Amino acid sequence: MKAVQVKKPGGLNNLYVSTLAEPGAPGPDEIKVRLRASSLNFHDYLIAVGKMPSDDGRILMSDGAGEVVAVGSAVTEFAVGDAVVSTFFTDWADGDPLVTGFASVPGDGIDGYSRELVVTKANCFTHVPAGYSHKEAATLTCAGVTAWRALVVNGNIKAGDVVLVQGTGGVSIFALQFAKACGATVIATSSSDEKLERLKALGADHLINYRTTKNWGAAARDLTGGRGVDHVVEVGGVGNLPQSMTACRRGGHIAVIGVLTGMSGEVPVAQMLISELRIIGLAVGSRCHQLDMIRAIEANGIKPVLDKSFPLEGLADAFRYQETGKHFGKICIDI
Ligand SMILES: NC(=O)c1ccc[n+]([C@@H]2O[C@H](COP(=O)([O-])OP(=O)(O)OC[C@H]3O[C@@H](n4cnc5c(N)ncnc54)[C@H](OP(=O)(O)O)[C@@H]3O)[C@@H](O)[C@H]2O)c1
Repeated sequence: MKAVQVKKPGGLNNLYVSTLAEPGAPGPDEIKVRLRASSLNFHDYLIAVGKMPSDDGRILMSDGAGEVVAVGSAVTEFAVGDAVVSTFFTDWADGDPLVTGFASVPGDGIDGYSRELVVTKANCFTHVPAGYSHKEAATLTCAGVTAWRALVVNGNIKAGDVVLVQGTGGVSIFALQFAKACGATVIATSSSDEKLERLKALGADHLINYRTTKNWGAAARDLTGGRGVDHVVEVGGVGNLPQSMTACRRGGHIAVIGVLTGMSGEVPVAQMLISELRIIGLAVGSRCHQLDMIRAIEANGIKPVLDKSFPLEGLADAFRYQETGKHFGKICIDI
């Protein structure tokens, strides 16, 4: 079978296409999946370029979707022919997260889904939403579950809440869609006026260009009549946090998700306590979160926003495209 791997120390010129032995028959609690699609996340990019450590020859990509081609004797949840999508963690089915780090994450601590076939534990996959293509399903593992957990699980979002989403990447667009499905008002930001118009078409109620509106946090607050927003889906990280805090109402919630402005820096602690903010970091979610999200997607007819697709052999080019920041929503891989 064909796979794309990365040589140490990483870098897009160190991605290579290989031919590996086809995995054998699944064990009793395993399934064999013919992978058909994957989608890019910033996390996959960091592994590919060597900014996050991984083993030499790592098979990339946390997101994988395809069809079941064989099932183990003890597997009852899946049958041959089922369309399935991977879970981000391979060892977090439900309950509180007990392990930190990425040791059990495909494409990071273990081999991922930039390959044609995998044999793995059945609970490393779920069914896909009804009517979803493989490519659509492949967007859910990381970006979809993260946005879901931020707003619904940790945020307890309710109708009438105001949600601030940042930029037009995978997580932020899912957050916009879930927030609208929950009856929230959405303030969306982007560096591009053209992308803002596309966010409006997806249901964003208010738009801010964060490049031309330097004080976008105060602008977001003004849009709520001075009350402040209830939730921020913070993909920028530490560089954005002071403005996100300004945008929030007293007692507001900031889901700290991303590191697009850097890995560490100063946090205005006094502002945090005066505003009684709930600042909650999170790393994707459990299999149970994924199942709940899929139920909500089906009930609300939500479809992911797909940008360009690349063939498996073109994975490095897909990452180069991601580097340009031109994408809107998810960049996908056809396998
Ligand atoms: N904690 C978790 O569980 C988790 C899960 C998934 C992702 N993440 C993190 O979340 C971040 C986004 O991931 P993604 O996969 O959605 O990325 P992505 O699809 O590559 O999205 C990047 C987009 O973010 C916007 N952006 C860039 N810099 C920004 C800034 N300073 N302020 C606001 N928006 C900015 C840009 O949108 P415009 O072009 O519209 O400006 C850009 O296109 C990454 O840091 C990633 O590591 C974390």
